[in-house]
Amino acid sequence: MPSIVFVLPGGAERRVTVAAGTSVMHAAVDHDVPGIVGECGGCASCATCHVWVDPAWIDRLPPADEVEDDLLGFAETERRPTSRLGCQIALADALDGLRVEVPPLP
Ligand code: FES
Repeated sequence: MPSIVFVLPGGAERRVTVAAGTSVMHAAVDHDVPGIVGECGGCASCATCHVWVDPAWIDRLPPADEVEDDLLGFAETERRPTSRLGCQIALADALDGLRVEVPPLP
């Protein structure tokens, strides 16, 4: 079972372990990680699951598709080159230890 580390605004870290196939968004919501809402349930229409992927991990993820890329432009929080929608990243054993930062609200 892969684990993921959420780095919260302010620097505190939360590590959670989930079943392979779980999205980053569901990993956060199911474990009450603050700052990730998942309002649309994961259908890529709200951007409330926005995260900044640790630069050391970004190249290990499949690239964002056009829908995700467009929606990231509407995120309430600051977009960065490592921005991704948490609902579009499925955790797998190969991603064990993935680190993502939860962007602070403006
Ligand atoms: Fe809505 Fe990811 S949960 S876009």
